[in-house]
Formats: sequence, structure tokens, C-alpha cells
Amino acid sequence: EQINKGHYEHYMQKEIHEQPESLTTTMRGRLIRLGSNKSKSVLLGGLKDHLKTIRRSRRVVFIGCGTSYNAALAARPILEELSGIPVTMEIASDLLDREGPLYREDTAVFVSQSGETADTLLALQYALDNGALCVGITNTVGSAIARNTHCGVHINAGAEIGVASTKAYTSQIVVMVMLALAIGGDTISNQARREAIIDGLFDLPNKVREVLKLDEEMKDLAKLLIAEQSLLVFGRGYNYATALEGALKVKEVALMHSEGILAGEMKHGPLALVDETLPIVVVATRDACFSKQQSVIQQLHARKGRLIVMCSKGDATSVCPNEYCRVIEVPQVEDCLQPVINVVPLQLLAYHLTVLRGFNVDQPRNLAKSVTTQ
Ligand code: G6P
Repeated sequence: EQINKGHYEHYMQKEIHEQPESLTTTMRGRLIRLGSNKSKSVLLGGLKDHLKTIRRSRRVVFIGCGTSYNAALAARPILEELSGIPVTMEIASDLLDREGPLYREDTAVFVSQSGETADTLLALQYALDNGALCVGITNTVGSAIARNTHCGVHINAGAEIGVASTKAYTSQIVVMVMLALAIGGDTISNQARREAIIDGLFDLPNKVREVLKLDEEMKDLAKLLIAEQSLLVFGRGYNYATALEGALKVKEVALMHSEGILAGEMKHGPLALVDETLPIVVVATRDACFSKQQSVIQQLHARKGRLIVMCSKGDATSVCPNEYCRVIEVPQVEDCLQPVINVVPLQLLAYHLTVLRGFNVDQPRNLAKSVTTQ
């Protein structure tokens, strides 16, 4: 077992640190340069016979559980932007509880690391019964979801052992960004945007390597938060998913109550929780939502909130309202790829909190890697 962990103490730690490599494997052979002008494109072999049908669909429905749902949520805006197709989100169990409408004209995308999660598998059967085109995005070749969908994309992140998903999450996001590029097609008007995203994908493993250098800093932050009862994480836009996923990591492994909050909803309830003791992480990296997040920081500060701000490198002084505010500075990348970078410090924080609090990192109590019962 120790051999598989290499020089790491835990699988989760190893899997967090191997993300530059797992992301490289996920993209291998899929980003290509075409024609004499070397324009860049994406090739997803498992989808090529179905791309036309997907482009004609009335709606794309993302379906998953836990971390896989969060990964799909991170990719939703870029799929909407590049394809113009409405994208809706479904937690698999909730879709089944409601027997929500799914149509022949829908493309249902099933996101699952294991490819075996019972709720997701049942939702797949339901979508097949309703005649939707079913696409699988899994990390397990030959899994039930990979076998029973019409087409799909393998994540190729390598086996993930830690119950809390880390490298599968970032690879899922990258696969879904590539899916957005593939569905979106090449038009003159979006060419510059597409090229910027593809260049960003090529460079992403390097940027993840850079953000992993925050390890010690996150350990120090974990020491500060070790005895807390609760941690809030505010995000919006591309990083609403980061807020949900960061909070999920903290609660599932560090066994600390944590909640990811859509910052746009702050005034509709969460603001009542703010005082000088409750730690709050605000994700405020540069993108179209940046100025709104600056105003969220101001409002939390006005209520004496205990702030930890995640911002783009160089922004620390402009985002921090006072010297008590802690900062996590991360490298800036193309907006739709930023969730891949931003989740890493939160994965590290959850990991160190767990070790410091003395809990089982790789097998948190009551949880299973793959939930194959309903
Ligand atoms: C379990 C795991 C989570 C995972 C979820 C969905 O709850 O503990 O880490 O996100 O299942 O699993 P899947 O294999 O479908 O991605």
C-alpha cells in the first residue's frame, strides 16, 4: 500500500498533488492543430458520431451526484456560452424523486467518476426510457454508465482511491470544457475565445503545479481553523461550483460543518450568520463577476465578517478590506478554467484540517467511494 502512495502519507494527498499529471493524461491526444493555418481544435473520439445530434438537441441536462454534480456545475456556463443550448442541472436522486421531464430532443450527460453510482445509473435508465440521447463521462472504462450510454468520454484521470474525489473532479471539469468546445463548433465569432481556452488548457497543468505551492500556506490556515465548528464558502458564476465543492471536501473529510453559498443569495439569508467569529472564504478571482464579489467582501466586512479571500495574483491589496483579512492568491487562467485552479487550495485545506483534527483522510466515517445502493 505504501508503495502505491509513494512518498505521500495518504491517497488523498497523493491524488491532490498528482493533478498536473492527471490533467495532462485527460487532455492527451484530444487537443489538436488543424489545417494549414494550424487552428486549434478538440477531438473527442467517443462523441464524433453523435455530435450533430447533440448540437441539434433542445437542451443539455447534466446529471450526477456529489463531486461529479459540482464538476458539471462548473462547466455549465461555458457550455451555454459556446453552444447556445440551454443547460439544466439535475442531482440524480432528485430527478428520480420528481420523475422530472426528459424528452427525445434532450441530451442527458451522466457524470460519474466510478460509473457505478446507483442513483446516477437509475437516472440513466430513466433517461433511456424517455428516449433522450445519453452521454457518459466516467473515469472507469467498462463501468455500467460507460456501457449503457449511447456515447461518452473517459476522464482518464487514473484510479482514484481516496473517498473524497480530487483529481477526478478537476479532470471532469476539463473533459466538460472540451465537450463545450466540441459541441460549440467553430465559428468566426467565437474563434478567439476558443483559441484562448485551448491555449489555457495546454498551460493548465503548469498553473496547477504553481497553485500546489500553496500547500504550506493552506496547512497554516488549517492550523488556524482547526477548532472551528463551521466554515462558509462564497462563490458565484464559474466559482459557485468551487464554493460547493470546497465546502463538500471540508465536511466529508475534516468532519466540519461547511456550506457552499451562491454569493448572489447572500442577502437572502446567509448574511444573518455573519459575525466576528465565523470564518468565511470568499472566492473573488478575476472574471466577469469580480466587481460583484468585491461588493460582497465589503458587505461582509461591514458586518465584521472573519474573511479569507481567494483572489488572483497581485489583487491582494485591492480585495482585502483590512489587515486581518487572510488572502489566498492563485494564478489567473481563462475564466472557465479558473475552477480547476481555485479548488486546489480548498482541497489542500480540507486535507490538512483532517490530518490536524486526527480523522481518517482516505476513508471518512460513514462514506463510501462508490455508492451502489439507493
Ligand atoms: C460518493 C463519493 C463521492 C462522489 C459521489 C458520486 O458519495 O463519496 O466522492 O462524488 O459518490 O460518485 P461518482 O462515482 O458517481 O462520481
